[in-house]
Amino acid sequence: MSAEIIDGKKVAGLVRDRVREDVSDWKAKGNRPPFLQVVLVGDDPASRVYTGAKTKACEDVGIETKTEILQDTISAKELKALIREYNTDDSIDGILVQLPLPSHLSSHDVIETIDHRKDVDGFHPMNVGRLSLDQPCFKSCTPAGVMELFKHYSIGVKAKHAVVIGASNIVGSPMATMLSRENSSGKATTTICHKYTKDLTLHTINADILIVAAGQPHLVKAEMVKEGAVIVDVGINRVADETSEKGYKLVGDVDFESVKKKASWITPVPGGVGPMTVAMLMKNTLLAAKKSIYPVD
Ligand code: GUN
Repeated sequence: MSAEIIDGKKVAGLVRDRVREDVSDWKAKGNRPPFLQVVLVGDDPASRVYTGAKTKACEDVGIETKTEILQDTISAKELKALIREYNTDDSIDGILVQLPLPSHLSSHDVIETIDHRKDVDGFHPMNVGRLSLDQPCFKSCTPAGVMELFKHYSIGVKAKHAVVIGASNIVGSPMATMLSRENSSGKATTTICHKYTKDLTLHTINADILIVAAGQPHLVKAEMVKEGAVIVDVGINRVADETSEKGYKLVGDVDFESVKKKASWITPVPGGVGPMTVAMLMKNTLLAAKKSIYPVD
């Protein structure tokens, strides 16, 4: 058996095409273009790459955007004051503070300062809480992108056993919520594994759907997965590679070559989940501009 490839690059392109058309319709009705305010604190190279990809995607779909690059010495008070200005600025629809933040800043505090109606990352406690309650909310982009991939390929989730490795606030935890809840088209029996899980294989071997977001290169090997399982690899790890010009290559958390022989579906790295994160951010920013999730009354 060799798994079918879940082509995230292609599906992300389709999502972006749809957003581009909707933005165009929105503007044709006399509305200004959606606007995303990005905040980058410090000069972490990976964060620069990620925010660069997000602003490029905005330009591609007709969303306006600006990135505020702040010194990594900025105080919490100053950063929160700036966010409060963005909250009350009617020309800004979405606010994205790139994580991680320097260690002297609390990401919880900073995220909670963002108006939840502009929280296009879906990280604010109001959006996380509403997700848990199956209520309309901004959904965290990476897990929302995974659900979109299942929808595109008609991969059934209902009543399956889904196992998520990793319990981060950005991916693992909201992923497990989406997989289990009704309104996210989940309805799966869901298990979360994390760094305290004693025997990972005990759980992964029973997974019909396995989502891996652990940040460990090649953590999941063929002997850990069930024959015919759907494998989603959220990991993006840099590993040394002398044959590449950059000196490194990107690999996922799954040993792709061996696991693809056992799985029914599998996402590659790169070109799997990564492009979906950015596409779903575009979708969320348009929803914010249209006040679709939180209507003004
Ligand atoms: N850091 C890693 N992923 C993300 C993301 O999706 N949003 C933000 N704001 N920061 C991140």
